[in-house]
Amino acid sequence: MNNSFFGKDLVTVEDLTLPQVENVFSRAHEMELLVNSRGSDRRLEGKMLAALFYEPSSRTFSSFISAMQRLGGGFIPLAGMANTSVVKGETLEDTVRVFSSYADILVMRHPDPGSVELAAEFASVPVVNAGDGINEHPTQALIDSFTIKNIFGKIADLHILMIGDLGHYRPTNSLAKLLTIFPNLTLSFATPKQVPLPDPVRQYLTTKKIKFKEYNDFTDILPTADVLYVTRVKKEYMSPELYREVQGSYIINREMINKMKKDSIILHCLPRVGEIATEVDNDSRAVYFSKQVRNGLYVRMAILDLILRKE
Ligand code: CP
Repeated sequence: MNNSFFGKDLVTVEDLTLPQVENVFSRAHEMELLVNSRGSDRRLEGKMLAALFYEPSSRTFSSFISAMQRLGGGFIPLAGMANTSVVKGETLEDTVRVFSSYADILVMRHPDPGSVELAAEFASVPVVNAGDGINEHPTQALIDSFTIKNIFGKIADLHILMIGDLGHYRPTNSLAKLLTIFPNLTLSFATPKQVPLPDPVRQYLTTKKIKFKEYNDFTDILPTADVLYVTRVKKEYMSPELYREVQGSYIINREMINKMKKDSIILHCLPRVGEIATEVDNDSRAVYFSKQVRNGLYVRMAILDLILRKE
């Protein structure tokens, strides 16, 4: 298949087509087999990744580093920019120009929406969005959709329910938009009234003629969901007053999941801060630790391979 990712940025899911996403899934499946058989190979030997993380991260940062290393590449790991010339006032534009000279791909996380798109304009190598403020987290959406596809064997026709602080949650922004390429989905969103689905996401879904419903109370629809996607309240993007109001609004516990379908799944891209009780973790439907995190490695290996190698 023609590799349309080669040499390209991955800043948003809005540009992605169904064949492209299926190509990522297929390459991620190859990576799963590779990791579980030999652990690594050398296909990206001689390539260098710069991880420019202006915001904290455990999974995205570490899985990209692990992915690059498992494919034989090198990396410049900047987990926080506190020891770089950013603290002297170097601009984003100048920083990405400089790291374009050292690396073949930039993976960037930044608190400002649109900052990664701006960086891509100034970089002379491909740029991957590892989360830009409350805007998008495209690689997480690919991981989440890969996880759904792997478990159900399909994404079409499912009922996907996302709950929590969707007003500030970039992974669900990206996932909701990405899911529009799959036919006949039912999308439901449940939020505390103070943190509704962002208008741009609502408009995007409307433009794509996707049927969706918004709720404050999801009790009645929980038994009909195939996928329950739980999110954290994004304390870092809101006032202390708003955080106090919304934190703890939704807590998924055993009693609630007892009302869910036997073959449904529970996703959370993590970190969680109390919104899923630990008593849920051992339920076979809770796949955030057992599958979703590990898929992050396979999907990010696939993305690096597709962007950095033509074949
Ligand atoms: N899911 C996710 O993006 O986690 P990190 O913030 O730890 O990278």
